[in-house]
Amino acid sequence: MEYKEVLVYSNIKVEEDIYVLSLIIGDDVKAGQFYMLKAWDEEPILARPISVHSVEDGVVKFAYQVKGRGTKILSSLKPEDKVYVLGPIGNGLDTQKFKGKIALISGGIGIAPMLQIAKGLDGEIDLYAGFNKSPYLIDEFRKYCTNIYVTSEKDEGYFKGFITEIFNPFEYNVVICCGPEVMMKRVVEMCKNYATPVYVLMENKMACGVGACLGCACNTKEGKKRVCVDGPVFKGTDVMF
Ligand code: FES
Repeated sequence: MEYKEVLVYSNIKVEEDIYVLSLIIGDDVKAGQFYMLKAWDEEPILARPISVHSVEDGVVKFAYQVKGRGTKILSSLKPEDKVYVLGPIGNGLDTQKFKGKIALISGGIGIAPMLQIAKGLDGEIDLYAGFNKSPYLIDEFRKYCTNIYVTSEKDEGYFKGFITEIFNPFEYNVVICCGPEVMMKRVVEMCKNYATPVYVLMENKMACGVGACLGCACNTKEGKKRVCVDGPVFKGTDVMF
């Protein structure tokens, strides 16, 4: 797999430090997969792993948070600028195999991959999204979700607290989760009591993105696994948080 050059379609700020970058890529992408992105030629800045937010008519959207030099550069991109992309990478989720009542649980920018997942699911979907700032990207979920539950540490009108405080696992046939590890660990623990299957999308730091450097490894029941090519989707009970 090699980097290819693509063009920016749009790059929109949706909240403080949160952007949605649309790239004209044209790939067939599975929900839960990601790309390595860079808009620079040389090190020292590594390409950034960014999960796919949604795909429409050959345009792949990425929702990302500005956290350092690489994502700061991404946030400055304008339509028709060039970006180098490697992907799609990772196992992704076979969304069609899930039926019944499904909970999507996100913390912060962990909401990013949930939209493409929601689009592929066939069931009654509830979104639980927790934020430590003003909520973002929520409206895009309204046509796919039956219920949307939001917590926000910042804005009035939302429950203040952890998203796990308002989530009841016993109602669901399957749970899909992405966000801080402490949150995913708690969700897995809660679901164990009801034998509810949980899938987690891991977001470890990455270097190569293609399985060569082991920089993204996480501990599982079967030993170390590479999040980039063995994941990013894992069964929650397999991960040793
Ligand atoms: Fe190199 Fe995953 S980032 S093995």
